Amino acid sequence: MSKKIILSGIQPTGHLHLGRYLGAIQNWVKLQEDYECVYSIVNYHAMTMPYNPAKLRENVWDLCYNLLACGIKPENLSIQSLIPEHTELGWILGCMCSYGELSRMVQFKDKSEQVKVNDKDMFISSGLFTYPVLQAADILLYKADFVPVGKDQDQHLELTRNIATRFNKVVGKEYFVLPETIYTNLPKVMSTADPSKKMSASAGDKHNLNLFAPEDQIRKQIKSAVTDSGDRTDKMAPGVENLFAILAACGDLKIHEELLLSYHQQTMQYSALKDAVADAVIELIKPIQLEKERIVQDKKAIKEQIKQSSASIRLRAQQTLQEVKELCGLI
Ligand code: TRP
Repeated sequence: MSKKIILSGIQPTGHLHLGRYLGAIQNWVKLQEDYECVYSIVNYHAMTMPYNPAKLRENVWDLCYNLLACGIKPENLSIQSLIPEHTELGWILGCMCSYGELSRMVQFKDKSEQVKVNDKDMFISSGLFTYPVLQAADILLYKADFVPVGKDQDQHLELTRNIATRFNKVVGKEYFVLPETIYTNLPKVMSTADPSKKMSASAGDKHNLNLFAPEDQIRKQIKSAVTDSGDRTDKMAPGVENLFAILAACGDLKIHEELLLSYHQQTMQYSALKDAVADAVIELIKPIQLEKERIVQDKKAIKEQIKQSSASIRLRAQQTLQEVKELCGLI
């Protein structure tokens, strides 16, 4: 039996931090063993918010090196703008998606507010509004069975299934499979500086642990992590919970268990927990950092390789688009 297909997309914005790695990329790497995977660096999506062209280009390639360093296989990696079928299918699907559906997207509401907060003279692009249609195209173009994404993308996945269903109805054929979200038990990593916030690059440097930061910076950031105000109540404070979650997610289960026990016995020092977390994080990211050092020694070759892989992934996209155009009465 042929392998099931996985597709996921990642925006080339901000740097790769521990939350993104533990919450998504590590899982992407594992999925490559059992599925046929297409991972797309979605640079068209990154233009939907105010952006800087030179920075976008730089971010795309840097993300490329970073993903490869994490263990994404080059043949599974593509750049969205090198495969014009994404936008072409996006147009077709846009005609099968209602204005009302797009108006209900929570991410659109959040992000359009963000645009105004950052700069009140900035406009909200129509690309931001139709963003979920392009995402549906990314997924349906490869007839993906599964899409590994976080909970925040549920609404976009639901919309993708609605668009696929409508398409099938219009053309009178069960052409698109309805993609499902892959749910895995991934940790939600919070900011160490403010554990009420999700770890993210956009919130600022102190709110995320950059996977490629030097060791002393990582140690310093973890040392200054917010824990609790001293009075330990029955319920673990969010900052402490987050440190334990990071420790477990980095795979140090034995130390995790020992520290948890002493925490409950009220004998644990927070400095011991922080040291353990820092050690675990460093151990996890060291080989990734070394691999990146190796990769960036020949950027030209890597760029060539990803252009090649995008070209071969494109062949599949072209096949789908040909069929879609025939079904839609366009050719
Ligand atoms: N919207 C996704 C995010 O913000 C990124 C994305 C774009 C995506 N296209 C996709 C995710 C296709 C999964 C599949 O994270």
